[in-house]
Amino acid sequence: MRKNIVAGNWKMNNDLSQTESLLNDLKKETNRRNAEVIVAPTFVNLYPAFQNLKGTAITVAAQNMHQNDNGAYTGEISASMLKSVGVTTVILGHSERRAYFKEDDELLAQKVNTALENDMRVIFCFGEELAERKNGTQESVVESQLKNALFHLNEHQWKNIVLAYEPVWAIGTGETASPEQAQDMHAFIRKVVSDQYSKTLAEAVTILYGGSVKPANAKEIFSKPDVDGGLIGGASLKAQDFFEIVNAF
Ligand code: PGA
Repeated sequence: MRKNIVAGNWKMNNDLSQTESLLNDLKKETNRRNAEVIVAPTFVNLYPAFQNLKGTAITVAAQNMHQNDNGAYTGEISASMLKSVGVTTVILGHSERRAYFKEDDELLAQKVNTALENDMRVIFCFGEELAERKNGTQESVVESQLKNALFHLNEHQWKNIVLAYEPVWAIGTGETASPEQAQDMHAFIRKVVSDQYSKTLAEAVTILYGGSVKPANAKEIFSKPDVDGGLIGGASLKAQDFFEIVNAF
């Protein structure tokens, strides 16, 4: 059985004290949980977050990582640095990284390789833009994003891959893909993975939906058979909203 995951991508939000206070609120929640809970604070707050959450079931993830192991790359962070502060999950390929920092499929393939070589788990983001959805090319866009960045991996390596389908037009816009649109795309993704690898692998891979997930729509989206959770931006910054989303499972 594949795993349900709800991951909060905090983006460039929350200084140290805000990070501590949000984590303290998240820890207080004692509601039932049918999903793994992940939070992704900014780089400088990863170690405090890891320390704060020790002994809890909440996982800390990084929002990005450099493709090289070390060297003269001013301002960058390597996989081994992340691991040295307790972080073994990394989000790669977020649409904001692709759009604002010009990360393309080729670079992302390198980052994925580096993360896996370092035994890290990758939450790999991809999704079409509005114009592509409008002209009906969303499936071919998604298929090529997967192919270019992930299909060189062997089946075994996929154990550390979590997919996050995030239509760019739904991120931070308040406009969510309908539960049916999410389900259709997730089923398509599973088919593409099945054709490339095997049905067993396709059934085992966790596929998250991201894009304006909120307490009000999480239950319906998560009820779809091929949606295994969410990557949550804005709504992950409020403990109450985030846990309502977690408890939508
Ligand atoms: P959003 O962001 O929930 O604020 O739309 C999702 C994401 O960027 O992962």
